[in-house]
Amino acid sequence: MSAPPRSDALVVFGATGDLAYKKIFPALQAMVRHGTLDVPVVAVGRAERSIDDLRNRVRESLEKSGGLDRAAFEKLASLLRYAPVDFTDPQGFGGLKRGLAGVERPLLYLAIPPSVFATAVAGLHRAGCTAAARVALEKPFGRDLASARALDAILHEVFDESSIFRIDHYLGKEPVQNLLYFRFANAFLEPLWNRDFVSSVHVTMAERFGVEGRGSFYEEAGAIRDVLQNHLLQVIAILAMDGPVGQDVEAIRDEKARVLKAIAPIEPAQAVRGQYRGYREERGVAPKSMVETFAAVTLRVDTWRWADVPFFVLTGKHLPATLTEVIVELKRPPRDIFGEHVRCADYFRFRLGPEVVIALGMRVKRPGITSGETMVGHPRELRASEDPATETLPYERLLGDAMRGDPSLFARQDAIDAQWRVVEPVLGDVVPLHVYEPGTWGPPEAQRLAPSGCIDPNTLTRMPS
Ligand code: BG6
Repeated sequence: MSAPPRSDALVVFGATGDLAYKKIFPALQAMVRHGTLDVPVVAVGRAERSIDDLRNRVRESLEKSGGLDRAAFEKLASLLRYAPVDFTDPQGFGGLKRGLAGVERPLLYLAIPPSVFATAVAGLHRAGCTAAARVALEKPFGRDLASARALDAILHEVFDESSIFRIDHYLGKEPVQNLLYFRFANAFLEPLWNRDFVSSVHVTMAERFGVEGRGSFYEEAGAIRDVLQNHLLQVIAILAMDGPVGQDVEAIRDEKARVLKAIAPIEPAQAVRGQYRGYREERGVAPKSMVETFAAVTLRVDTWRWADVPFFVLTGKHLPATLTEVIVELKRPPRDIFGEHVRCADYFRFRLGPEVVIALGMRVKRPGITSGETMVGHPRELRASEDPATETLPYERLLGDAMRGDPSLFARQDAIDAQWRVVEPVLGDVVPLHVYEPGTWGPPEAQRLAPSGCIDPNTLTRMPS
């Protein structure tokens, strides 16, 4: 089968926003540096803006977050165009149409809040910008199952499924791909990877910082819609899925969707929501906002493999550390041969960021015991780590894939629907909101959810066993 044609322009909606500044511009520079971007990049924003103004913003973003590469930046600057678009005016997309003169197959990348996706798609269609185009959307896709479905229907009125790319940037992360690889490239794991050997799974995504000027975006989202419904459920799908039956693009997506459909909707009693003190004073946040900046939930994966194994998920802003980590805790040996009364069992640990680590925690004998004395052990970790500096930026990989028409690393609608079904019972104000102090691990109520006691709630590291 011949490869699909490459997109011949990249249109970035939301180019004046925070995501573009922090992640998209550095990714575009990296694409130029690696020779994968050589077509016009049309930045779209609401206001009139000069091209020099745009170039200065890109340069500033690269200096601040990506590290400016002079040659690559010059090349990127020469590819940039700017088009103002007024979403409220039916004729407001005319400037973009003119900016796309000579372009046949643009990738339309919508890095904008979900509430304006539909208006953007309709406006693009009316202006005649969608004919042979691809579209890439940022998560969250909708606000709940019904709106996700409605959005999908709107997209399908204009685009074919093979032209729709739903971005969850976690799927473009090297360590997340490594998790999938580690699971299915090694045979030794499979016999252990089930309810017979695993006692619990802990997934944590903690951030030391707050909403950082993204208050108005965050008010539409909250921690559950912002990261749990998408990033963390995708990580759990990779952890919990069965082996894919083939190597084609859909085989992995089929297995992930299958396990996501088997996750039970979260019971409100199994969820704790928190809001950091000071959130309501952030710019763009309502003074009486009930939006959560912290969520802890227990998930049930109702499959033969995972029955009765709790999956504890915790995420929040203004926590004591910035890290994303998975701990798969194994069961204790059936008998305490050495009489040590060890509380905490062996485990696998996957650090998905900022550093990349795969570790196996186990007990080994302390050296120096002579015969006749009792052997005494201590916990040790066998660790493999990678230098994150060698990573391809997730957005470099994902935008490049979307421009090539490769859907492998994008979310599929059936999985997204299943993800909404899981979180739907805890959206909104159903679960009480507790205030927590910035720099703590969220409201103390969250600790009742993870009873194993082997993960220290204060440091999130393993307790000494
Ligand atoms: C984004 C969320 O999707 O992911 C942010 O909107 C969050 O709130 C970010 O901070 C974390 O991603 P990363 O790659 O920076 O760890």
